[in-house]
Amino acid sequence: MKIAIGADHAGYHLKEALREGILAEYEVLDFGTHSPERTDYPLYAFAVGEAVAGGEADLGILICGTGIGMSMAASRVPGIRAALCTNVYMAKMARAHNDANVLCLGGRVIGPGLAEEIVRAFLTTAFEGGRHARRLELLDRGPRGNGG
Ligand code: RB5
Repeated sequence: MKIAIGADHAGYHLKEALREGILAEYEVLDFGTHSPERTDYPLYAFAVGEAVAGGEADLGILICGTGIGMSMAASRVPGIRAALCTNVYMAKMARAHNDANVLCLGGRVIGPGLAEEIVRAFLTTAFEGGRHARRLELLDRGPRGNGG
Protein backbone atom coordinates (compact mmCIF):
# COMPACT_ATOMS: atom_id res chain seq x y z
CA MET A 1 0.00 0.00 0.00
CA LYS A 2 1.30 3.43 -0.99
CA ILE A 3 0.71 6.32 1.43
CA ALA A 4 0.94 10.02 0.51
CA ILE A 5 1.85 12.22 3.46
CA GLY A 6 2.11 15.96 4.01
CA ALA A 7 2.35 18.45 6.84
CA ASP A 8 2.86 22.13 7.52
CA HIS A 9 5.33 23.44 10.11
CA ALA A 10 2.94 22.60 12.97
CA GLY A 11 2.71 19.00 11.80
CA TYR A 12 6.29 18.54 10.69
CA HIS A 13 7.60 16.81 13.84
CA LEU A 14 4.67 14.39 14.01
CA LYS A 15 5.09 13.59 10.30
CA GLU A 16 8.74 12.73 10.90
CA ALA A 17 7.86 10.60 13.96
CA LEU A 18 5.26 8.65 11.96
CA ARG A 19 7.70 8.15 9.08
CA GLU A 20 10.29 6.71 11.47
CA GLY A 21 7.64 4.62 13.24
CA ILE A 22 4.59 2.94 11.73
CA LEU A 23 5.06 4.35 8.22
CA ALA A 24 8.46 2.65 7.91
CA GLU A 25 6.38 -0.47 7.09
CA TYR A 26 4.79 1.26 4.06
CA GLU A 27 5.80 2.83 0.78
CA VAL A 28 5.54 6.57 1.43
CA LEU A 29 5.30 9.57 -0.91
CA ASP A 30 6.35 12.52 1.24
CA PHE A 31 5.07 15.85 -0.14
CA GLY A 32 6.74 17.88 2.63
CA THR A 33 7.16 20.14 4.42
CA HIS A 34 10.75 19.15 5.08
CA SER A 35 11.61 21.55 7.91
CA PRO A 36 9.85 23.28 10.82
CA GLU A 37 9.98 26.62 8.97
CA ARG A 38 6.58 28.37 8.77
CA THR A 39 4.55 27.51 5.66
CA ASP A 40 0.93 27.21 4.42
CA TYR A 41 -1.12 24.04 4.92
CA PRO A 42 -3.25 24.19 1.70
CA LEU A 43 -0.13 23.55 -0.41
CA TYR A 44 0.37 20.13 1.18
CA ALA A 45 -3.34 19.29 1.41
CA PHE A 46 -3.79 19.86 -2.33
CA ALA A 47 -0.61 17.90 -3.24
CA VAL A 48 -1.59 14.88 -1.13
CA GLY A 49 -5.23 15.14 -2.23
CA GLU A 50 -4.29 15.14 -5.90
CA ALA A 51 -1.96 12.15 -5.39
CA VAL A 52 -4.73 10.12 -3.76
CA ALA A 53 -7.50 11.24 -6.12
CA GLY A 54 -5.25 10.56 -9.13
CA GLY A 55 -4.38 7.04 -7.96
CA GLU A 56 -0.69 7.74 -7.35
CA ALA A 57 -1.26 6.80 -3.69
CA ASP A 58 -3.86 4.55 -2.04
CA LEU A 59 -4.45 6.68 1.06
CA GLY A 60 -3.21 10.01 2.42
CA ILE A 61 -2.21 11.45 5.78
CA LEU A 62 -2.11 15.20 6.46
CA ILE A 63 -0.95 16.94 9.63
CA CYS A 64 -1.22 20.57 10.67
CA GLY A 65 -1.60 22.13 14.12
CA THR A 66 -5.20 21.06 14.66
CA GLY A 67 -5.88 18.98 11.53
CA ILE A 68 -8.77 21.34 10.76
CA GLY A 69 -7.18 23.38 7.99
CA MET A 70 -5.84 20.25 6.32
CA SER A 71 -9.26 18.56 6.39
CA MET A 72 -10.96 21.65 4.95
CA ALA A 73 -8.39 22.03 2.17
CA ALA A 74 -8.08 18.34 1.23
CA SER A 75 -11.86 17.92 1.00
CA ARG A 76 -11.90 20.55 -1.77
CA VAL A 77 -10.02 18.15 -4.05
CA PRO A 78 -12.65 16.23 -6.08
CA GLY A 79 -12.75 12.59 -4.96
CA ILE A 80 -11.22 13.26 -1.56
CA ARG A 81 -13.01 12.38 1.66
CA ALA A 82 -10.74 13.77 4.37
CA ALA A 83 -11.41 12.88 8.01
CA LEU A 84 -9.99 14.65 11.05
CA CYS A 85 -9.57 11.99 13.74
CA THR A 86 -8.55 12.47 17.35
CA ASN A 87 -9.03 8.89 18.53
CA VAL A 88 -8.89 5.29 17.29
CA TYR A 89 -12.69 4.87 17.13
CA MET A 90 -13.01 7.85 14.76
CA ALA A 91 -10.24 6.47 12.54
CA LYS A 92 -11.95 3.06 12.29
CA MET A 93 -15.33 4.61 11.53
CA ALA A 94 -13.83 7.05 9.02
CA ARG A 95 -12.75 4.05 6.95
CA ALA A 96 -15.59 1.60 7.73
CA HIS A 97 -18.52 4.00 7.30
CA ASN A 98 -17.18 7.02 5.37
CA ASP A 99 -14.56 5.37 3.14
CA ALA A 100 -12.30 8.30 4.04
CA ASN A 101 -9.21 8.31 1.84
CA VAL A 102 -7.25 11.00 3.70
CA LEU A 103 -6.61 11.01 7.46
CA CYS A 104 -6.00 14.40 9.08
CA LEU A 105 -4.21 14.76 12.42
CA GLY A 106 -3.45 17.66 14.74
CA GLY A 107 0.21 17.81 15.61
CA ARG A 108 -0.59 20.21 18.47
CA VAL A 109 -3.53 18.09 19.65
CA ILE A 110 -2.29 14.51 19.97
CA GLY A 111 1.05 12.92 20.82
CA PRO A 112 3.03 10.47 18.67
CA GLY A 113 1.85 7.36 20.54
CA LEU A 114 -1.83 8.02 19.97
CA ALA A 115 -1.15 9.25 16.43
CA GLU A 116 0.49 5.93 15.62
CA GLU A 117 -2.53 3.97 16.91
CA ILE A 118 -4.89 6.21 14.90
CA VAL A 119 -2.83 5.73 11.75
CA ARG A 120 -2.73 1.95 12.31
CA ALA A 121 -6.53 1.82 12.66
CA PHE A 122 -7.00 3.97 9.55
CA LEU A 123 -4.65 1.92 7.39
CA THR A 124 -6.01 -1.47 8.43
CA THR A 125 -9.78 -0.91 8.43
CA ALA A 126 -11.81 -1.61 5.27
CA PHE A 127 -14.89 0.21 3.99
CA GLU A 128 -18.05 -1.77 4.86
CA GLY A 129 -20.06 -0.67 1.81
CA GLY A 130 -23.80 -1.48 1.89
CA ARG A 131 -25.92 1.36 3.28
CA HIS A 132 -22.80 3.48 3.65
CA ALA A 133 -22.16 3.37 -0.11
CA ARG A 134 -25.60 4.94 -0.72
CA ARG A 135 -24.69 7.79 1.62
CA LEU A 136 -21.41 8.39 -0.21
CA GLU A 137 -23.34 8.56 -3.49
CA LEU A 138 -25.55 11.24 -1.94
CA LEU A 139 -22.43 13.04 -0.75
CA ASP A 140 -21.00 13.02 -4.27
CA ARG A 141 -24.24 14.38 -5.72
CA GLY A 142 -23.92 17.38 -3.39
CA PRO A 143 -26.60 19.58 -1.82
CA ARG A 144 -28.16 20.43 -5.22
CA GLY A 145 -28.03 16.89 -6.58
CA ASN A 146 -25.89 17.85 -9.57
CA GLY A 147 -22.44 17.15 -8.16
CA GLY A 148 -21.77 20.86 -7.71
C1 RB5 B 1 -0.51 27.06 11.91
O1 RB5 B 1 -0.20 27.95 12.92
C2 RB5 B 1 -1.90 26.48 12.11
O2 RB5 B 1 -2.86 27.47 11.93
C3 RB5 B 1 -2.14 25.34 11.14
O3 RB5 B 1 -1.16 24.37 11.34
C4 RB5 B 1 -3.44 24.58 11.28
O4 RB5 B 1 -3.68 24.20 12.61
C5 RB5 B 1 -4.62 25.16 10.65
O5 RB5 B 1 -5.71 24.56 10.64
